[in-house]
Amino acid sequence: MAATTVIFDAYGTLFDVTAAARAAAQRPEFPDLARSHAELSRIWREKQVGYSWWRAVTGEYKPFWDVTADALDYALDATGLSGDPALRTTLMELYAQLDAYPEVPAMLNALRAAGRRTAILSNGSPEMLAAATASAGVADALDAVISVDTVQTFKPAARVYDLVGARFGTAPRDVLFVSSNGWDAAAAAGYGFDTVWVNRASLPPDRLPHRPARTLPDLTTIPEIATGAPA
Ligand code: LAC
Repeated sequence: MAATTVIFDAYGTLFDVTAAARAAAQRPEFPDLARSHAELSRIWREKQVGYSWWRAVTGEYKPFWDVTADALDYALDATGLSGDPALRTTLMELYAQLDAYPEVPAMLNALRAAGRRTAILSNGSPEMLAAATASAGVADALDAVISVDTVQTFKPAARVYDLVGARFGTAPRDVLFVSSNGWDAAAAAGYGFDTVWVNRASLPPDRLPHRPARTLPDLTTIPEIATGAPA
């Protein structure tokens, strides 16, 4: 299928959510992080996603930046690192400017050169998405950065996926949706998007009602898939 519009999840898909704790662990002022940054990143992400689902289900929305801070506080507590306010400040600052995965700029530019529209659809709040796309140098390669903030809930609520058609006038079948989150790719497949699950960590498939059409190890071949060209 040749998609007209390629939509990306942000955190974990375009931006490496483990980069913040890894970068902080390089700094001499945070020696305790050297051995625990991977566990901190894992718990931080798990709670960030879990808290967003809790807020979507209960209707008690608050911006993802604040959900991310709550999740970090839990993760610092759980790893015994909550005693250093400078560490918390540094991690949040680093989270605002996460590294993009190395293949991202060339992949987005190839999609644009092939006449495809590109956008982010993310739980992220508008300010954090603006900071992340600017610091990663990819803002100019995106036609839109769409935040759930407009509808005040989180993925995988269908109202979030509706934002793509509202912005671009597309039918779901015109859209290739790319996410590293199995639950996000599953919901997007159920919604009717063509889907790619980016499975960098070789995780097992999620046991959910809808399976993504494709699973890839990274984003390199997205332009070929979106244009229907042989990979
Ligand atoms: C996002 C999170 C779910 O960017 O990764 O929406």
